[in-house]
Amino acid sequence: MVQIIVVMILAYLLGSIPSGLIIGKAFYNTDIRQHGSGNLGGTNTFRVLGVKAGLAVTLADILKGTLAASLTHFFHLDINPLIAGVFAIIGHTYPIFAGFRGGKAVATSGGVILFYAPIMFLTVLVVFFICLYITKFVSLSSMLAGVCAVIYAIFNGDIPLLVVVSLIAAFVIYRHRANIKRIMNKTEPKIKWL
Ligand code: G3P
Repeated sequence: MVQIIVVMILAYLLGSIPSGLIIGKAFYNTDIRQHGSGNLGGTNTFRVLGVKAGLAVTLADILKGTLAASLTHFFHLDINPLIAGVFAIIGHTYPIFAGFRGGKAVATSGGVILFYAPIMFLTVLVVFFICLYITKFVSLSSMLAGVCAVIYAIFNGDIPLLVVVSLIAAFVIYRHRANIKRIMNKTEPKIKWL
């Protein structure tokens, strides 16, 4: 039991590493939370600091989820890796190392799914990019990816996956409520690089 608690804390701390803040401050002397949408995530890093920084932050955020989910295997725990993944997603969204103001849960959730169900990750990624190509909205594509993941999990028949992915999708939509308002007001920025 103690080991499980330690791993969950480690997963939360791993998720809490604010890659956008670290890369922004270390290489660009910029706090991305003061610019663009104010979100501490890959999309806002792309927007504020460009493609190189955006890619680095997105990959780092995905990696946090993948590593956190893999902790249960590393410590030989007999629990579902998705549980550690959820703690990493909470850390990413409410990071102890960045005043509990983090991202919108998309990339780190992707990293968790990448570890647990790689084919599902790739399927959802394709849906994400098709939506992004058509609409140019990362936020809408992220939410649609969440819904698509739920549909995939329904057909997949893995109940823990369905439960966790449904919670994640609902949380992702909740975290995008400002984006939803902006899309409806037609003020949501579109990406320019696709
Ligand atoms: O993953 C976050 C993305 O979907 C939206 O980010 O900065 O446009 O609010 P942002």
